[in-house]
Amino acid sequence: MKILAIETSCDETAIAILDAEHTDERTHFAVLADPLISQIELHREYGGVFPSVAKREHAKNIVPLLREALATASLFQEEPVTHDFSQTDELFSREPELYEAFKEFISSTRVPDLDVISVTNGPGLPPALWLGVNVARALSILWEKPLVGINHMEGHLLAGLGVIEENTISLAEPAFPVLALLISGGHTELVLMSGWFTYELLGQTKDDAVGEAFDKVARMLELPYPGGPEISRLAEQARTGGLAPSFSFPRPMIHEDNFDFSFSGLKTSVMYFLKKLPELSEAYKQEVALEFENAVTEVLWKKTARALESTGAGTLVIGGGVSANKHIREVFAKNIAEDFPEVSFRIPGAKLTTDNALMIAIAAFYRARKNLFADPKTLSAESNLSLA
Ligand code: KG4
Ligand code: ZN
Repeated sequence: MKILAIETSCDETAIAILDAEHTDERTHFAVLADPLISQIELHREYGGVFPSVAKREHAKNIVPLLREALATASLFQEEPVTHDFSQTDELFSREPELYEAFKEFISSTRVPDLDVISVTNGPGLPPALWLGVNVARALSILWEKPLVGINHMEGHLLAGLGVIEENTISLAEPAFPVLALLISGGHTELVLMSGWFTYELLGQTKDDAVGEAFDKVARMLELPYPGGPEISRLAEQARTGGLAPSFSFPRPMIHEDNFDFSFSGLKTSVMYFLKKLPELSEAYKQEVALEFENAVTEVLWKKTARALESTGAGTLVIGGGVSANKHIREVFAKNIAEDFPEVSFRIPGAKLTTDNALMIAIAAFYRARKNLFADPKTLSAESNLSLA
């Protein structure tokens, strides 16, 4: 099954084309193309993502990326083709420039040998999501291919179950129930997946998401956006230098008997601590990064361990941008091996941690297999779409 996927929920414009082959207990995904344009450099100037800027960039980049993806996958076959654009005019009424580029592109290639078109339709920034959704709807209508709408967090979760090597992703059927810790810029949640597409939200953050806390603390430390990798780098330097924190930050809700999180108090403690410092030296920056990362990791682990105990999950998966964090990965791997040796631990390879379209294509494969298709005439972007 050949799947084209579009991801524009936040600040990456990404397209992926995968060829999925399912055998008994595992699915092999051949990566035929996965071009991506990141807006990070642009958003860095503002210290965060501005939805209107994100949308403008998606509008500028999406057609060139589609063309590139098809060409890389050897699916672009130059040939003048006429389409009935009256079916899609409405989808692009507010994006005349994009529509011109889109029409020129789609009129210049033979209908590609694809089985499914898929797109992230939430959660995310509404203008950014709508852009990808409308392009996907138009492709589905004009190429007459079935459409699948994917929840971005489902993409993170399912991609985390796969193992990526060079140009293939291999996903073995997990032992259910699967416990997922989803940690990104907008989400922090523990989700129980008792079977394919059956989710239960066990707990989530009451305030800031983990990635958001990383980004905000990084800003206080005068580090560039996005802050997660920067804090991680400083904390790592501190650890290799043998530094032990001489102060401690709170571990919010760590002892509460539930699966919820809170990170805004931790962020505020960092802020008060920094206010009292005479100056923000490099040494203090490292120490704050180290202690902050330790606090976050301890809370994430304690809550996850409690959920593993109470659910008897057979698999633990971590997904979302923060799962790129080296310390979190190491602590989880070590603790699982020691305390839950019977649990299979899965964590996405570097390329699959932060936002990408491969994860959307992976999720689309499993949805398409169960005929969970969307109507291209009505699929909408849902900024608050939730898994359960
Ligand atoms: O999943 P993602 O790419 O986008 C969202 O869906 O939100 O996650 C982005 C978040 C940002 O907050 C970023 O700072 C964080 O992931 N992040 C990290 C690391 N790499 C990215 N946080 C901690 N350590 C990292 N190495
Ligand atoms: Zn994400």
